[in-house]
Amino acid sequence: MTTTLIDGIGLLYTGDPEREEIPEAALVIEDGLVAWTGPAAEAPDADERVDAGGRAVIPGFVDSHAHLVFAGDRTAEFQARMSGEAYTGGGIRTTVAATRRASEAELATRARALVGEMLAQGTTTVEIKSGYGLSVEHERRSLEIATGLTDETTFLGAHVVPAGTDADSYVRLVAGEMLEACAPYAKWVDVFCERGAFDGDQTREILTAGRKAGLGVRVHANQLTEGPGVRLACELGAASADHCTHLTAADVDALASSGTVATLLPGAEFSTRSPYPDARRLIDAGATVALATDCNPGSSFTSSMAFCVALAVREMRMTPLEAIRAATYGGARALRRTDVGWLRRGARADLVVLDAPSYVHLAYRPGVPLVHQVFHRGLLLEEDIQNHPADVVL
Ligand code: NIG
Ligand code: FE
Repeated sequence: MTTTLIDGIGLLYTGDPEREEIPEAALVIEDGLVAWTGPAAEAPDADERVDAGGRAVIPGFVDSHAHLVFAGDRTAEFQARMSGEAYTGGGIRTTVAATRRASEAELATRARALVGEMLAQGTTTVEIKSGYGLSVEHERRSLEIATGLTDETTFLGAHVVPAGTDADSYVRLVAGEMLEACAPYAKWVDVFCERGAFDGDQTREILTAGRKAGLGVRVHANQLTEGPGVRLACELGAASADHCTHLTAADVDALASSGTVATLLPGAEFSTRSPYPDARRLIDAGATVALATDCNPGSSFTSSMAFCVALAVREMRMTPLEAIRAATYGGARALRRTDVGWLRRGARADLVVLDAPSYVHLAYRPGVPLVHQVFHRGLLLEEDIQNHPADVVL
């Protein structure tokens, strides 16, 4: 078994709450896992050595919320928004029409290209939702494609009610036949709980059915308006309530006193020109916060976790430490994973060598490509990984 020593690390952000930062550090990889971390002066011998040259090392980003299986383009909708129109979520149906028209190969190629984009930017775990098929066969197909890319797949048949269907019969379909067809390909069930999408009762019905089918629960909650989403998520033991943009005091209390992570998606507020969630209020109340891209063609077409970290620091008043924590450890908590999101003995050796002396540069140098190298499952990815990630499952 070959061991690899990465030394010359100027600053190691481990993500491990027990020892979050180690200056002048080293790390040993063995069999795809982290075998040792600590001060470089105390590093054990290894078969191979990589010199980080004083650069910072962080865990690979855990992007716990993305919609990557889709076709078509919503440039015109974005342009209209930038000229003053509001985001309502109604554009989802435009993407549904394009996605249904596309072949399976076309959808898979596009989703894989987005995963490649993510890997090249330091994301080594990603969750992928369905939600642009909205029929039994189209949702099943989207999830089958997602399973070829990640272990973290989410059934989002309840994204919106598709055109030409009434809400009640669609909810029955989602909680019945569609769930049955999709559950074998999904780890999670999600509902867009929002005015114009699904109300509290409908959300409860679908999430409860998903849970009964063995799926974990996550919710698109309180994105555009206050509503029942966050409290339902906490009550049903959801791993994560996502967006959390419009919260009452009771919502904040519920998040702070439950195991449900508040996942903030500042790319969506950026791209819809909306007010950002109040991250400080959540963190100060004691809630666990995650950051994710929400990568999708409508509300947030970014694959960059570094961009979200920069937004979180500048626009949501998170400190750089809170933001990097939320983008790694927080994302892992939102997916209930303990093998990723931190660099401690036994964790997956997913890590990013930054072209910077500290993780702070992710916010301090916004928009600058700072990824020097990415290790995924202990393997150094090739420089042009975004062009051929054909066999990589995150
Ligand atoms: O998380 N809010 C619901 N779903 C996505 C947007 C989907 C779309 O506009 O296509 C979101 O923002
Ligand atoms: Fe989303």
